Amino acid sequence: MIVLGIETSCDETGCGIVDAGYAVLGEALYTQAATHAKFGGVVPEVAARAHLEKIQPVVTAALEAARLNAGISLTDIDVIAHTRGPGLLGPLLVGSSFAQGLGRALGKPVMGLNHLEGHLASAYLTDPTFEPPFLALLVSGGHTELVHVGANLEFRVLGSTRDDAAGEAFDKSGKLLGLGYPAGAEVSQLAEQGRRDALDLPRALMEKGNLEFSFSGLKSAVARAAQKCIATGGEDALLAARADFCASLEIAIADVLVKKTVWAMRDLDETQLIVAGGVAANSWLRARMTETAQREGWRLVLPERRFCGDNGVMMAAAAQKRIQLGKWPRAHEATGASMGVSAGLRWE
Ligand code: KG4
Ligand code: ZN
Repeated sequence: MIVLGIETSCDETGCGIVDAGYAVLGEALYTQAATHAKFGGVVPEVAARAHLEKIQPVVTAALEAARLNAGISLTDIDVIAHTRGPGLLGPLLVGSSFAQGLGRALGKPVMGLNHLEGHLASAYLTDPTFEPPFLALLVSGGHTELVHVGANLEFRVLGSTRDDAAGEAFDKSGKLLGLGYPAGAEVSQLAEQGRRDALDLPRALMEKGNLEFSFSGLKSAVARAAQKCIATGGEDALLAARADFCASLEIAIADVLVKKTVWAMRDLDETQLIVAGGVAANSWLRARMTETAQREGWRLVLPERRFCGDNGVMMAAAAQKRIQLGKWPRAHEATGASMGVSAGLRWE
């Protein structure tokens, strides 16, 4: 089976073509980050329009790559997969409508998928021999969740954030430090030159075994420390201390993520772990997770960085896993009911 996957839930227009062995035959990605940077965040209406403009060129580019790499043409595609939710409604509608139209035109089935299931599938792209059951730490700009994935793709959310996501904590704190949007990668780069113990930032909900997250206190603490720094030494002092702020922020976020992952893994007696989502690209977090996995004897998959952020390839990989495990079509799809979109779709 060859699957073409489409992702349009937020601000990346992505398409990926993946075969049954999780080899990427073709891919293309258009990121709108520069468009939204001037607003300091994603503007849903602007995002929807950009997806509309880019969806066809992106899908065409992925197909062209597949033709050059593997001699695959449109008629060789067996299934079209797309992100059904959660995400921004307008952007989701663009991807869903395009997928449905393509499916109709080709006479091929269309599979609507949970975006988070796509992030988890980035593991199979990095290690095709990796199979559920496993624990997933999903850390992105919109989500922070510990999810257990059963052998038959049963998803069980063990904990999630009560307020900001881990990526949001990077982005909002970065903004306070005058960094662009999204700030995660820049915070991480600056952190390399900073002192990890420069600021005493809070780690929330750290009673042993608590798998819920809360990151909004971090940004408030960063704001207070920044104000104090400016009050004593002016804007230049904050600029000079930026690396220290970033290093302290990064360690505060990673500490919480690693600790709660350890609690969940031990609690479940699980030995397989993946870390997925945009924040999984963070070098400090990757290094700490790698050390922890070695110490605990886990099999850890850290997706390649290019598959950590939103992309179409991961959606195609998620569809492959469903097909291979016989988890598709689901009951409502077998009846031919519309797969539509859902902004607030939870795990199913
Ligand atoms: O998965 P993603 O591309 O989009 C969502 O579904 O949200 O994640 C984007 C998030 C942003 O908050 C961004 O700042 C963060 O991932 N991010 C990072 C790094 N690269 C991206 N955070 C920390 N360190 C990084 N290297
Ligand atoms: Zn995402």
